[in-house]
Amino acid sequence: MYSLIYFAAHRKKNILDFSNLKLIDSYHRRINYLRISITDRCNLSCIYCVPRHRLPKLNHNEILRYEEILRLVRISVRLGISKVRITGGEPLVRKGVYYFLNELSKIKGLEDISLTTNGVLLIKDNLEKIKAAGINRINISIDTLDKKKYKAITGHEDFHRVWSAIELAHEMGFDPIKLNIVALKGLNDDELINIARLSFTYPFQMRFIEYMPIGSSCLTFEQHLPVSEIMKRISSLGKLIPVENNANDGPANRYRFEGAKGEIGFISAISHPFCHKCNRLRLTASGGLRPCLLSDYQEDLKVPLRRGCLDNELVDIFFKAIRHKPIVRKIAKDHSIGVSDQMHTIGG
Ligand code: 5AD
Repeated sequence: MYSLIYFAAHRKKNILDFSNLKLIDSYHRRINYLRISITDRCNLSCIYCVPRHRLPKLNHNEILRYEEILRLVRISVRLGISKVRITGGEPLVRKGVYYFLNELSKIKGLEDISLTTNGVLLIKDNLEKIKAAGINRINISIDTLDKKKYKAITGHEDFHRVWSAIELAHEMGFDPIKLNIVALKGLNDDELINIARLSFTYPFQMRFIEYMPIGSSCLTFEQHLPVSEIMKRISSLGKLIPVENNANDGPANRYRFEGAKGEIGFISAISHPFCHKCNRLRLTASGGLRPCLLSDYQEDLKVPLRRGCLDNELVDIFFKAIRHKPIVRKIAKDHSIGVSDQMHTIGG
């Protein structure tokens, strides 16, 4: 149905006015959220993310230029995207990122811009630049509160640095601050309760994430811990009271312990896929538009962009991508149905 309306309007006007075109897929999902990976590079090597065998990094020419990304965001906003998250690799390692964030925040119609970072580069200066760009929402990855385990998981001794950054971001009024914790059997599962306990002291939103076997990470499915198990491990802290999701919420099921300042959220991508409410598209660092994290299908935007195409050709590609958005997608534990691309190029 959307495609009929789309093509009629499209043909008649040869685009430029696509105010009536919205990214709604054939399962009536309104796609209003674009996650953008601006680099495949990272200053950490987390075991759930980096490939078992080193892969070549994208070279400068292969990644989209900021101007190209901004053009795509402007187009996507006109198609109904209202929320954008900047990810990586680690987005803050890319040169010029603060200029980019500033330009992004000037795009009219974009209601919500957020950033996912590992926090290593979140020194005061950089937090100020993020704030100055009007970005108040940050997600920081921190899978453990133990500096030895931090080293074991990320390969780097940056625990104190990241924890100080979290506290500083809090003092500087960033809100919400979400902490991403990938739950890993045998690695941090004995700590989940201590991490959850932080929600009594800080107004943070803890996000416990099931490990997803994407690409060829250093882990096996043995380390996967389902949300039901994570909940069990933290249940002695009190009763988890459900918090109502709002329109801008991601896939997390949100809860709060009675009397706590912060929240606990669970992302059960594997044990309980949330495809029916998926409202996302992903733009990879190299210009691939992916309708589903758990599938390798993508449409290329870089070649047409660099060929000097018109906006309507790019609009076509957005619609083509959402036509391939699966209604449900499960990946197999043994990787037989899976994702061969790496998380750091797709964007976590
Ligand atoms: N499984 C689950 N979450 C992952 N992330 C990265 N790789 C994986 C994976 N294999 C998430 C982490 C990180 C964010 C950028 O992406 O939570 O915080």
